[in-house]
Amino acid sequence: MLKGKKIVIGVTGSIAAYKVAFLIRILKKENAEVKVVTTPSAFSFISPLTLSVLSENPVWSEFSNPVDGTWNNHVDLALWADVFVIAPASANTLSKMAHGACDNLLMAVYLSAKCPVLFAPAMDLDMYKHPATQENICKLKSFGNVFVPPGKGALASGLVGEGRMAEPEEIVEFIRTQVTEKTLLGKRALVNAGPTQEAIDPVRFIGNRSSGKMGIAIAEELARCGAAVTLVMGPSELQSLAPGIERINVVSAEEMHQQCVQVFNDCDIAVMAAAVADYTPVHSAQQKIKKQQDDLLLSLTKTKDILAHLGTVKGAKQVLVGFALETEHGIDYAKEKVQRKNADFIVLNSLSATNIGFGAEINQVHFIDNNLKVESFASKLKSEVAADIVRKIVEIVKSKTEK
Ligand code: CTP
Repeated sequence: MLKGKKIVIGVTGSIAAYKVAFLIRILKKENAEVKVVTTPSAFSFISPLTLSVLSENPVWSEFSNPVDGTWNNHVDLALWADVFVIAPASANTLSKMAHGACDNLLMAVYLSAKCPVLFAPAMDLDMYKHPATQENICKLKSFGNVFVPPGKGALASGLVGEGRMAEPEEIVEFIRTQVTEKTLLGKRALVNAGPTQEAIDPVRFIGNRSSGKMGIAIAEELARCGAAVTLVMGPSELQSLAPGIERINVVSAEEMHQQCVQVFNDCDIAVMAAAVADYTPVHSAQQKIKKQQDDLLLSLTKTKDILAHLGTVKGAKQVLVGFALETEHGIDYAKEKVQRKNADFIVLNSLSATNIGFGAEINQVHFIDNNLKVESFASKLKSEVAADIVRKIVEIVKSKTEK
């Protein structure tokens, strides 16, 4: 989704400038175009060569070339940008931004920018806490600039506290939000994700290999498009970096069912990406089961099918999306499933190739809609698959609204 996006990174004099190398790498990997403008003191912390090699563009730092006098047109650079990210933003630069000072090229670009401007402060904890800095941040927010909050942790001074620049992945998430069209503004979405755990006794459970990555990617994409998202999440270590997602943690299929049913009422969209256990133990032992006989038989009973239930209560304007994972006859089973569960479409996952499916970064899917039309996609990053899914959801939301 960052492919072809034009991003200007403004680097100021802070030790966190070294993290900009990683930020540029991530952006370039996603095929964004990157140009860098710096304040004069930035080069004490990161070399112009590092920045130009990684961004594949010359670095802008002076108003003109001292050798031949060529003018570095800051207005052109500012107008070129789809997003301008000032990272790290030192206390000094924050102050200049808040007051409109223009004594270096970065500031001239800032004052000329018409695109969204993001700023990621980096400084020592007391500088960060100082009322002057806090007032500057408030002022920048009031200008409509987007604040990328710093993290807490060890600082260059040896002190520990708030002031570390946000990690490059977090900054990229803020950039993604800025460049995504707000096609779902005012809509509410429910996503479930991850595995469920069905207790056998206090220490054992029946689970599955779902990581929750795909569901989180969908929740993030829905949020980027402006939807208010509730993520009902089974046990997973994964965290979402995207702002604007309310997360409800659950463990069992029954808990997931209860939460989803409750949230679905007020939703326009529901995506059931969780790998819900199909069966759960009839009885969960109160105490740990001791080993005795050679064989142990567990009696299991079917769980409630959340997707099928939502399909029965779904209103005419609500969009319901299910998932399916098959090892054979995938399309045929998915066609049967989309009708039986009354979904608008089913995302059929592939588990056929290595590096695809559980825990992987990439996925290969087919969409099967309720007219039994099949749309097949190439292997892609899960974030790209999520964008395809949300694009399809937006189409259906639009067509249902027009009816
Ligand atoms: N699902 C659900 N509640 C369950 C089981 C599954 O909501 N108790 C949802 C999943 O979240 C997913 C879809 O149903 O969206 C998967 O359907 P399912 O019938 O479980 O299919 P598979 O797991 O692919 O396989 P099978 O048909 O063998 O059950």
